[in-house]
Parts: sequence; structure tokens; C-alpha cells
Amino acid sequence: MQSSRVPEMEPYARHVLVCSGSFCNENRAGRVIYARLASLLQREGLLFGPTRVKRSEAPCLGVCVGGPIVAVYPEGVWYAGVTLELLERIVCEHLKAGRVVEDAVFHRMTAE
Ligand code: FES
Repeated sequence: MQSSRVPEMEPYARHVLVCSGSFCNENRAGRVIYARLASLLQREGLLFGPTRVKRSEAPCLGVCVGGPIVAVYPEGVWYAGVTLELLERIVCEHLKAGRVVEDAVFHRMTAE
């Protein structure tokens, strides 16, 4: 039986999707990236308040090569080959300061 409760969610500024699948990275290194992301968001004060960043782990983001793959919305910016060092830059430069890490972007969502 489905609950009739209406879900509630705190406002957030950005949503980060991390692929933890094995097709884009055979070692599933996205799992390490996803775990580290939590501590970086906490360190940078991005877990609560108006700059809150949500994070989600996905088994596949439909890219399947060059992982780990990380996507940031609402910008629709996609990063490939995300190492722990690149993740640090994404958090500090993009999520915290609002400057996309241009040299690591491989795709952008097409705006209508
Ligand atoms: S398995 Fe990572 S994008 Fe498909």
C-alpha cells in the first residue's frame, strides 16, 4: 500500500550525480568519489542552507566510458575521469565558488 504522505525536501542549490558503475570505470572508482564527496561537502559547508548541494549515486549515467563520470545540475555540466584531485577542484571551484572547472568538462546540457 502506498503512503499518501507528501514528501518534503529542503531547498538546494545544486545536485551532483556520481556514476558508480563498472562500464565507465572497471574498478568502480565512482564509489570512492561518491564517498569522498560527502566529506568535502561537509568541509566546505555545502550540506545545509542556501548553498546546499544534494548528491546521488547512480549505477549508470549513460556514458559508459572514461569514468568516473560526475554531472552537476542545474548547469548540466558533465565531468569525466574524475580523480580525487579533480573532485576537490569541482567542489571548491564549481560547487563552492560557482566557477565551472572548464578544462575537465566533456559535455554540457543543451539549453532551449
Ligand atoms: S557505467 Fe558509468 S556511465 Fe554507464
